[in-house]
Amino acid sequence: MGIPSGRRVFTPWFAPALTSEFWEIFNRARSSGDYIVSPECSYMVYQYCLSCLDLPGNIAECGVYSGGIAHLLSLLLQRHASKASLHLFDTFEGMPSASITERDHFVSGDLAAPLDRVVQRLDGFPFVEFHPGRLPETLSQVAGVTDYAFVHVNVDMYQSTLDCCQWFWPRMGTGGILFIGDYGMYAYRRTARAAADEYFADRDATVLLLPTGQALVIKR
Ligand SMILES: C[S@@+](CC[C@H](N)C(=O)[O-])C[C@H]1O[C@@H](n2cnc3c(N)ncnc32)[C@H](O)[C@@H]1O
Repeated sequence: MGIPSGRRVFTPWFAPALTSEFWEIFNRARSSGDYIVSPECSYMVYQYCLSCLDLPGNIAECGVYSGGIAHLLSLLLQRHASKASLHLFDTFEGMPSASITERDHFVSGDLAAPLDRVVQRLDGFPFVEFHPGRLPETLSQVAGVTDYAFVHVNVDMYQSTLDCCQWFWPRMGTGGILFIGDYGMYAYRRTARAAADEYFADRDATVLLLPTGQALVIKR
């Protein structure tokens, strides 16, 4: 007896033949240093960023840690000869001290990865721009950048997620995607999810939750 079709889960991230470009760049990124994002979550970031590459506008990641996804995105942009810049925001000293204790389960300094190691990892990608320091303060460095095609928000804390939504959503171009890591995960219900729900509650936009726990919002 076959598996009921309703129970089947299509897992292209485990099918190298179907997703050869993903496999190639994922394995390159994963073998180049510390890599904490799962294959399925990496595949979603890859796929949705790929879908935005024909849009004008830049790419950003907020929450870089050791640069795993940043490396994946860099390889993707390079392969497709994208003209976009990749803006990377992180303290590079771990989670900021702005933790709201009744919400956040990280404490200051968690997930620290030194900037020089990430710079070294992404050497050879001239379109990468680093913005070390605490969000939202570092956003003033990109005040002139008003058109984003894809933004990966992976900061995991309530205030950091809210700050990113507030800054980037009005600057997303039509068809652009704001992509939020960990949104659906129970552990992040009072952080990433609460911040995104609060921000998008009275906006003409739908937060689409993926089975990986990530969420995306498409700018109409
Ligand atoms: C889950 S990690 C990011 C994982 C990363 N995308 C990867 O590919 O491995 C979360 C990161 O968010 C950063 N972060 C959180 N809040 C921040 C803030 N307000 N300003 C700058 N960085 C922040 C932390 O330093 C940490 O490196």
